[in-house]
Amino acid sequence: MSRIYELTLEAPPGDLIAYDPVRLADAMRIDDPSRLAIEAMGSQALVTIYPTDPLADVRLPDPGFLEMDERGRIWIGRYHNGRKVYVQLYDPKSGSAQRLLLFGTTGAGKSTLGQILLAAMKRSGIATFYGDLKEGQSAPEARGNVDWAVYSQEGVMAQLHTAWCVMRERAARYAAAGRSKFLRDRPDPLLYVVIDEANRLLEKGAPYRDLATFYIKDIGRTGRSLGVGIALLAQAGHLDELGGSDTMRAMLKEGEVLLLRWTSSMMQQLVADGLMPTGQKLAPIPKKAGATRLVSQFEAEADDDRPGTQGTGYHLSGPYPGAKMRAFNVGSKTPTEGLDPEMLALYGDGPHESLEKSSWGAAGEAYIERLDGDSAYNAAFPPPPEPEDDEGRDGRRSRRRSTPAGPARPQAAPRLTIADRVQAALEAADEDLDAHTLLEAVNADGGRPVKLGSIRNALSNLR
Ligand SMILES: Nc1ncnc2c1ncn2[C@@H]1O[C@H](COP(=O)(O)OP(=O)(O)OP(=O)(O)O)[C@@H](O)[C@H]1O
Ligand SMILES: [Mg+2]
Repeated sequence: MSRIYELTLEAPPGDLIAYDPVRLADAMRIDDPSRLAIEAMGSQALVTIYPTDPLADVRLPDPGFLEMDERGRIWIGRYHNGRKVYVQLYDPKSGSAQRLLLFGTTGAGKSTLGQILLAAMKRSGIATFYGDLKEGQSAPEARGNVDWAVYSQEGVMAQLHTAWCVMRERAARYAAAGRSKFLRDRPDPLLYVVIDEANRLLEKGAPYRDLATFYIKDIGRTGRSLGVGIALLAQAGHLDELGGSDTMRAMLKEGEVLLLRWTSSMMQQLVADGLMPTGQKLAPIPKKAGATRLVSQFEAEADDDRPGTQGTGYHLSGPYPGAKMRAFNVGSKTPTEGLDPEMLALYGDGPHESLEKSSWGAAGEAYIERLDGDSAYNAAFPPPPEPEDDEGRDGRRSRRRSTPAGPARPQAAPRLTIADRVQAALEAADEDLDAHTLLEAVNADGGRPVKLGSIRNALSNLR
């Protein structure tokens, strides 16, 4: 059999079509349920029967295709019927960045799809902060191909804080320029914060849960019109594990949502939270594709070499939420010793985009030095300033008092940037200073120690 059959079904008005894909396959004498694609929506259903699993191996023809199109979309995979699956990272009509949520149980293919997103971002000139809470195991090839990679909760907190500061800096700059919206690359690039294993940051009992939720919520809400987007990759049984915030739920409802293989509790939550379109029913994704058959004890034992279904799922916010899709199978077929050359090829050799220089002052040292771990955290969230720090800076003090209440209050306080300190040291000196002498002078001002690279950056910014 090599034909494709498509059946259109309609239930009497008012009835909803419910089905069990395994029973349906069995009733139609189809041994392998992966040959069957069912899209049910309310009282209508479309059933397609394929000669073989249409999503057995979905390949990206060329990494060059990952570049964002004129509608701000990137191509991430295919639907069962061969149509392209697009995810939007930028809406050119409204000039807005997007929010993206990728759910899936362990081993569902989240990080692999994550690499597709990261590579697409690199190829599209998007500055990306990437945090992997699996200590760098999720996407080792991302290092050097994103603007800033971190592998600790502290590092991710620094990234969130930095993105949030950049957002505020852009807001002030755009307002001063009389601009109401973000225009990609005119002059600032899109900025994305991508967090893999975001559940570890947001689950109950996680050390930075509340503050992380605050940032994600705020970036999700106000970052859009400032070209700052956020993408979370998470395995979550319950949305409560993801910060437990209604506002975040609301925000994610409007974003791009991809669902790979799930657990039943995850699905219940998605339905309960309205993240699933009404009347939508999704055929569950089995762990393995292919036919199963009973094997008698008198037969030879058979190896279970059925292929996996990683990367298979649904693009819930897309035009065909009920159509099974699969992300591109990227990377080498068998695991490689070091970095995977095929994965590296996905990103390409070109340079990655960086944050606009005009925001470096606001971004601060954690970004400029691309710090991770405690040093990133301490740079982003310096301990409360010593009283003498505030001497002669009354304006600063009153601004601090007027920052809104909430978890970010201590972090919202402006602090002396490296540029401020360099300027002060230059003004204090009565002769020209070279970078090394300047470094000594800045480090003698009682503030946090600074490295030569930061001095050089601050100098070139000041120039
Ligand atoms: N679209 C795909 N097609 C085929 N194989 C895939 C696809 N996506 C991922 N895989 C394979 O599935 C395995 C697991 O993928 P991945 O690490 O991306 O999952 P994960 O959801 O991030 O898992 P974890 O929860 O362990 O982090 C990898 O070996 C990968 O090669
Ligand atoms: Mg992973």
